[in-house]
Amino acid sequence: MTDMTSPPPNSHRDSSAVTARAESRWATFAIAILVLIVVLAVIGGIRHSTLPQYQVETIDPSMLHISGEFVESNLGSAVESDGSVTVRIVAQQYSFTPQCILVPAATLIVFRATSADAIHGFLIEGSNINSMLVPGYVSSLPARFDQPGEHLMPCHEFCGVGHQAMWATVKVIDKAEFFKMSANRRRLACVD
Ligand code: CUA
Repeated sequence: MTDMTSPPPNSHRDSSAVTARAESRWATFAIAILVLIVVLAVIGGIRHSTLPQYQVETIDPSMLHISGEFVESNLGSAVESDGSVTVRIVAQQYSFTPQCILVPAATLIVFRATSADAIHGFLIEGSNINSMLVPGYVSSLPARFDQPGEHLMPCHEFCGVGHQAMWATVKVIDKAEFFKMSANRRRLACVD
């Protein structure tokens, strides 16, 4: 009759020790992989959240009114040689310039906008435009309006005490009428 309380033979003890060592090595290896994945995810996340958007355009917000693309005389709608329209907008506490934007229907419109001070929201109701305007960066967004009409353009990012009063209007007019008006003016806005 076998004595159940007696220790296992040496060979059995050795093999359990080998198994335990192997298990602990594999456990260490698996944990190391998990730690590596977590570290990579954290590094990637921090890097992604601290970098500006891909294909970013930068601009000096303190120079907007003095020189470059966003000087006051260059704001509003301009017809490009390919027939598209570029609209340049500056947001500042607490208004957009221009306050009323004039664009043609059924035309590719490229909105180029930036902020002179705080982060502002840039949203045109009834369109695909929904972005932020960050000082130091240019937001360039394409849009197309099928029909003439008026669209509200509210700032939808809290930017200070006057935030809720900050909005502009986008007036979409007939394409032929717009291009007739643009023939004698370099930049268009609703009130000229
Ligand atoms: Cu600008 Cu809110």
